[in-house]
Amino acid sequence: MTDDPTLPSLEAVEARLAQIRAMDPAALEAEQIAILGRKSGVLTAAMRRIPSLPEGERRAFGAAVNALKLRFEEAIEARQAELAQAAGAAEPQADRTMPGRETWQGGLHPVTRVVHRVVDIFRRLGFAVATGPEVETEWYNFLSLNFPADHPAMDMHDTLYLAGQTAAPGERLLLRTHTSPVQIRVMQAGPPPYRVVIPGTVYRKDAFDASHAPAFSQIEGLAVDEGIGFVDLKATLTHFAQRFFGGDTPVRIRPSFFPFTEPSAEMDVRCRLCGGTGCPACKGTGWMEILGCGMVHPRVLENAGVDSERYTGWAFGMGPARMALNLYGVPDIRMLYEGDVRFLRQFAGAPE
Ligand code: DAH
Repeated sequence: MTDDPTLPSLEAVEARLAQIRAMDPAALEAEQIAILGRKSGVLTAAMRRIPSLPEGERRAFGAAVNALKLRFEEAIEARQAELAQAAGAAEPQADRTMPGRETWQGGLHPVTRVVHRVVDIFRRLGFAVATGPEVETEWYNFLSLNFPADHPAMDMHDTLYLAGQTAAPGERLLLRTHTSPVQIRVMQAGPPPYRVVIPGTVYRKDAFDASHAPAFSQIEGLAVDEGIGFVDLKATLTHFAQRFFGGDTPVRIRPSFFPFTEPSAEMDVRCRLCGGTGCPACKGTGWMEILGCGMVHPRVLENAGVDSERYTGWAFGMGPARMALNLYGVPDIRMLYEGDVRFLRQFAGAPE
């Protein structure tokens, strides 16, 4: 190489190494081509000359060129990395003073809120939570609960039967019309005493109108033990209603009828919307019905395998959707089920 005057000496090439760490991107690229370029880079040209050198010099020269090539490659790579990092740092930074984007926050449905509040009040009174199937047999839904077969009492519930499906020969399957069958399931599952609340969805062949929905929630309650009387029912449910609606809410209990309780009753609270003077929501009565209740019929206890001579109990069933209408002053039950988020989000911050 030293014998070719058109090529710089290796020392002269090596001297250019030091400048690399100060080069801008354009100069760096030009230098990379001038030194290492495959066609006319000076080190590539030097390599090409090796075969024409005297035998004894080839090996040492080749090694020197290769070593220099490596040092250039390293220096160029290091400078490229440095330049890339500087370019990244120069990019505009996020504006930390900009207000954050509002995130969408979900909330509990008003009916779910009512269910949680009811369950919570009964939990504090020592009630456990139980659930049961939504597809039931005629026996659990009606017969075990003392609905006489083919008696008009069964017409109180417009039942959705599962077409062509039976539990046993001659016994139809249906969508449960109330949560009361779970009373039987709870009692069958173990010995008394029982204190349970049973939230769940129930189904009826009802038109969807201002006060009816074909699928809705219920909460059932059951307390069975030795020595339980009507006074326990009245005291517990009055306590519940006043915890739920407010400590001084007037409450009344009226006689009623259910096949599975004897005696049976219904509980009303003073209308929240008119305060008792009478309005369309309470149909002018000043009262709103919140639940049905009664002493568990001895035949129901016996059907579930509980000794009705030894044990007595009371039960209730309430509709949380009705209670939500009542509590929040919603005029039409359909508003609860349409899924209109503009309506539902009003309850997102309501007390739990
Ligand atoms: N199962 C009744 C219904 O759906 C509600 C009910 C009334 C449940 C009285 C009870 C009860 O446990 O004692 O209309």
